Amino acid sequence: MALIDIRTYPDKVLGRKAAGVEQIDARLQRVIEDMFETMYAAPGIGLAAPQIGLSKRLLVIDINSRSEGKEKYPPLVLINPEIAALEGEAESEEGCLSLPDFTAKVNRATRLFVKGVDREGKPLELDATGLLAIALQHEIDHLEGTLILDKASSIKRHFYKKKLAKKSR
Ligand code: NI
Repeated sequence: MALIDIRTYPDKVLGRKAAGVEQIDARLQRVIEDMFETMYAAPGIGLAAPQIGLSKRLLVIDINSRSEGKEKYPPLVLINPEIAALEGEAESEEGCLSLPDFTAKVNRATRLFVKGVDREGKPLELDATGLLAIALQHEIDHLEGTLILDKASSIKRHFYKKKLAKKSR
């Protein structure tokens, strides 16, 4: 296993729509292991493949460190996810490993049904609520090339870009 550098904004791969995964092979299994290791080390509760520079529809989530022992979900691998239905709306304060020192309030559905396949290529259907629903929407956004920066207020976006410009000078 290996830790991989997490791509940060404005890396172009983060703004690209990711392509579907066509082959679930040994190489992809290694990528999945690396994504988990990289996510845990960060630390974070979710990571999408574009964040490690791979523009493929693949994400990993493990919310157990943040779920306060309420509901336990096994670490999740989701390939080629498709949102089948959304329900409810609530504001959620989110951060992103690709946007250091940035958080934003984002409107999210409170429940979603999502379909995809697991790491063995078997069909997977999830009915998610709470933090899992938020994490799924956040990571699926990454596959569309959307960051919470794009969903933040224009003032927050402006100041974050200004801060980055100062840093890189
Ligand atoms: Ni993110």
